[in-house]
Amino acid sequence: MKIIVTGGGGFLGSRVIQLLLDRKDAGASPVDFDAIVSLDLAPCPVADDRVSSVTGSIDDAALLNELVTDDTVGIFHLAAVLSGGSEEDFDLAMNVNVDGTRALLEAARRVKGPVRFVFTSSLAVFGGTMPAVVPESHGTQPESTYGTVKSIGELLVNEYSRKGFIDGRVCRLPTISVRPGKPNSAASSFASGIIREPMNGVASTCPVPLDTVMWLSSPQAAVANLVHAFELDGASLGDWRVLNIPGLSVTVAQMLDALTQVGGSAARELVSLSHDPKIDAIVGSWPGNFDVTRTKALGFAADNDFVQIVQQYHDDFIAG
Ligand SMILES: NC(=O)c1ccc[n+]([C@@H]2O[C@H](COP(=O)([O-])OP(=O)(O)OC[C@H]3O[C@@H](n4cnc5c(N)ncnc54)[C@H](O)[C@@H]3O)[C@@H](O)[C@H]2O)c1
Repeated sequence: MKIIVTGGGGFLGSRVIQLLLDRKDAGASPVDFDAIVSLDLAPCPVADDRVSSVTGSIDDAALLNELVTDDTVGIFHLAAVLSGGSEEDFDLAMNVNVDGTRALLEAARRVKGPVRFVFTSSLAVFGGTMPAVVPESHGTQPESTYGTVKSIGELLVNEYSRKGFIDGRVCRLPTISVRPGKPNSAASSFASGIIREPMNGVASTCPVPLDTVMWLSSPQAAVANLVHAFELDGASLGDWRVLNIPGLSVTVAQMLDALTQVGGSAARELVSLSHDPKIDAIVGSWPGNFDVTRTKALGFAADNDFVQIVQQYHDDFIAG
């Protein structure tokens, strides 16, 4: 019995794979499996005999049909062109994020099941005029290619679930911060960069105004919530399979205050403001706060505060 993780070579995908294995080893996984297959353009970094890494593209329908067999008990669909990359290359975003998602759903549909299918969406599906706290029922109105292709993915996963083809769970993730490693092609990459770079003694620029409100999650909470979405009984979700995953509502100014608290004023002085209208237009269209009553009741986890997230990054990657 296997679980397939597209994007298993990436930041969240590789961590989801590790958490699935850890939970299996602890006897805590309610879904039985003995193998995990990562499908990604990049190899999966998780070294474990139960993990195999297939390098290929999500829009290769023949490859998907070969991989998604009747012994598949779950699929995490994380492979995607991110926000900055989608805005730069419309055709690639459509091919990978729409055609690839549809091809995977078609392959999943053929599995006897219906198979559990976790899809990572984003708060970029929202835009236009929004209330200060976005309720569950708020309609999507994307203002970017990324938000549009994610919104299409949400509807497809919901519709394939409604038809009984799959057992879908759409996780609208907050922006992840602090993401270790290097900057990526996400428009929100600065949300990690303005903490990570100065904590490592490197200068960083902030492209949005200080009063920009961000909806943030630590990597640990996001990964735990993706696995929780997978392990939940699908019946507990009802017909609408889209979940606003809990986050923290924090201004950029508060993020920088947290940097000062954990890293000191020397770290804070490494961050300068340099307005980037392109990034501001994308990130500024995203909501900064959500009503997450439903997902909290379903047992999804939330971080306590942003200082703790920065402290965690410090303890994991700077200290010692
Ligand atoms: N990190 C965040 O802040 C955040 C927030 C909201 C949603 N998400 C979503 O979560 C998912 C994972 O994000 P991440 O932060 O781990 O990004 P990531 O870039 O680290 O991982 C994405 C992976 O997808 C792979 N990929 C891209 N095109 C592919 C293709 N054609 N075929 C196969 N693999 C392909 C990449 O090689 C990469 O390893 C994405 O769907 C992203 O849109 C992330």
